[in-house]
Amino acid sequence: MIDENRPDGMPAEQVLAEIRQLRAMDRPTHGGRLFAYVYDPAVPGLDALAATAYAESAHVNGLDPTAFPSLLAMENALVAAAARLLGGGPGTSAPEVVGSVTSGGTESLILAVKTARDARPDIAAPRIVVPASAHAAFAKAAHYLRVALDTVPVDPTTLRPAVADVAAAVRPETVLVACSAPSYAHGVVDPVEQIAEVAAAAGVRCHVDACFGGWTLPYLRRLGLPVPPFDLAVPGVTSISVDLHKYAYAPKGVSVLLHRDPQLRAPQYFAYADWPGYTMINPVISSTRSGGPIAAAYATLRHLGDDGYLELTRRTWAAVRTLADAVRATDGLRLVAEPESTVVCFTVEDPTLDLFLLVDELTARGWHTQPQLRYADLPASVHLTVTAAVAPRVAEFGPALVDAVAAARAAGPVALPPDLLALAGSLTPEALTPELVAGLAEGLGLGDGAGAPDRMAAVNTLLDAAPAAVRERLLVEFVGLLQRPAW
Ligand SMILES: Cc1ncc(COP(=O)(O)O)c(C=O)c1O
Repeated sequence: MIDENRPDGMPAEQVLAEIRQLRAMDRPTHGGRLFAYVYDPAVPGLDALAATAYAESAHVNGLDPTAFPSLLAMENALVAAAARLLGGGPGTSAPEVVGSVTSGGTESLILAVKTARDARPDIAAPRIVVPASAHAAFAKAAHYLRVALDTVPVDPTTLRPAVADVAAAVRPETVLVACSAPSYAHGVVDPVEQIAEVAAAAGVRCHVDACFGGWTLPYLRRLGLPVPPFDLAVPGVTSISVDLHKYAYAPKGVSVLLHRDPQLRAPQYFAYADWPGYTMINPVISSTRSGGPIAAAYATLRHLGDDGYLELTRRTWAAVRTLADAVRATDGLRLVAEPESTVVCFTVEDPTLDLFLLVDELTARGWHTQPQLRYADLPASVHLTVTAAVAPRVAEFGPALVDAVAAARAAGPVALPPDLLALAGSLTPEALTPELVAGLAEGLGLGDGAGAPDRMAAVNTLLDAAPAAVRERLLVEFVGLLQRPAW
């Protein structure tokens, strides 16, 4: 911190002690009890290796691959590794596959949409078609790029879109059809083969968002699970993305976007020579790019190796099965989907059991799950992203779940004033004045400088009652209250 009371700067050890003190406020990134945000393989020594590799290349700039060939070499190796895993490369049906390293899944998806949009300059008002279960990053891409978003509903039981609905949503202005392998919310794989066929028949690009599961599905298949075709082996799939900072277990800041061939990738680039400085040629959104995340990902992949990933996926799948069994065995809970990848998602089916209180009770017992608000025909649910680090602790989850359910039953359900809930349900974003938001925040314990409360059930209950547009507006305001300069 640049501190007016400390113009002399601080010794390194003291600075690090300060950071460690701040970090103590965070959810535990290691230990296998956090089911979102982090991906931990619990491999001894891996963190230190990745951190050293990161430091080695942190000041290298990806802006110019001719100045820093080391970075180009590592990027090309990461792209080859991702392509090999996802059905591309020599000897496959996608021998000309090319790709880029981006900063994350969202950037990969924004670039997939941009590339598809810019490949069709003849279309004045481009559109993309996505299943409702597709990651919100597609909506962000559509918003940033001024592309219309056509959302196809998913069946509340299969959690997949009907192929006929996807076909019906494709219009002459459609530049991209997308699908997930698997979806984040429920971990189910869309019918990629059929969707890609629909897209190809219409002459439209098809992107597979394998950001979440692209590094586990091939290994799950090798372990004997019935993983349907989802990658470049599927005719009609023109691009696919996979995040290395998810199940490749690299530190944050690395995803790979692959295109079936260089012609398909061409519109991804941005080049600009019409100014007095260096000619800018960027394959991705950032121009200056740190080599740190790329080197760390490179080290991670080299160290773990194919056998390592197979073993980590084996452990993860064993943990998924144990967690799903714990849910099945607990009265009042129901799996939203039978696990087919590395997600366990469940809901409550008992009016005396409040889902958001249950999430808080699990948190109080050291198990950090992710609540998902209700959407269309889908009930609110609890999401668990399962990683290999969960395996050694997984037997403890069942008893904690039973205990948390009992506590939530005893305490609940959350009782917000009925007029507040009715207000949330009937509000429009325009009606949310700053005063109203401030009053709501105060009432929910999110007041100025308060930070996020330990217990979120009241906040989640209010958000759950509100339409999507009101949720968005409320959360923007609430997060805005958290993001204030630390004077
Ligand atoms: C399927 C899927 N796509 C895209 C993303 C966005 O990735 P990121 O958070 O790295 O931007 C995620 C993140 O969870 C995801 O699960």
